[in-house]
Amino acid sequence: MEMMLSLTPIFVLGLVVTLCIGTDIATMQWNGKKIQYFDRATALFEQSEDCLPGFFKGVWQNETCYMFVTAELTRSEASTFCTEGALGNGLVAIPTELHHAHIVGQIVMQTELRASSSSSQYYWTSGENFSGLWTWGTSLEPFNYTKFWTGSTPSTGFLALYESRSASPSPYYDWISTTSITNAYRSICQHFIVSR
Ligand SMILES: *[C@@H]1O[C@H](CO)[C@@H](O)[C@H](O)[C@H]1NC(C)=O
Ligand SMILES: *[C@@H]1O[C@H](CO)[C@@H](O)[C@H](O)[C@H]1NC(C)=O
Ligand SMILES: *[C@@H]1O[C@H](CO)[C@@H](O)[C@H](O)[C@H]1NC(C)=O
Repeated sequence: MEMMLSLTPIFVLGLVVTLCIGTDIATMQWNGKKIQYFDRATALFEQSEDCLPGFFKGVWQNETCYMFVTAELTRSEASTFCTEGALGNGLVAIPTELHHAHIVGQIVMQTELRASSSSSQYYWTSGENFSGLWTWGTSLEPFNYTKFWTGSTPSTGFLALYESRSASPSPYYDWISTTSITNAYRSICQHFIVSR
């Protein structure tokens, strides 16, 4: 009995250590910085030989692989990291409701990706008001589907996914436009699958 009791703290400590090191966040060295990204397959984004390291294929389609970057970078750093660090095609494009639903689903279902309670969070995308026309920079397609957050009027600038868990109703990663491109946010990179 005494033995059991004295072992309990060791067991608890072991569990805590396991939980701490059992993380899904990997690190890539880039430009003298450590860039953290989410590195695990989920129900929505699967491992695929079509995808580069750190990228996962969205299960609803066969054209694109995605990387969720948790390091906070300025808009231009995030965009450059996607191509020069991760070797992808650029920041994410969200052309349809299906894309939006899966990408937001991934963020809200993974603790490492979601904003913690009562905090706010942004993810950079490749969306940009390009000379008056909202365009996905990475695919060069003008917006067809839109999901702007109703709490703010879209204007000139760059598009981020936005959550504020203290707001009611919460924006829940609807879209927000911002000109504050020096703000450091998380981001999502993508690359197109080259058919073999
Ligand atoms: C993706 O490709 C696989 C293998 O070729 C196929 O089984 C699947 O139906 C495709 N999925 C979609 C959404 O097109
Ligand atoms: C734009 O969206 C509409 C409605 O979802 C769809 O019917 C149409 O095919 C889309 N057009 C393009 C060019 O993707
Ligand atoms: C895009 O930016 C232009 C200025 O370049 C602005 O006049 C226009 O209202 C913006 N478009 C949207 C849909 O916000």
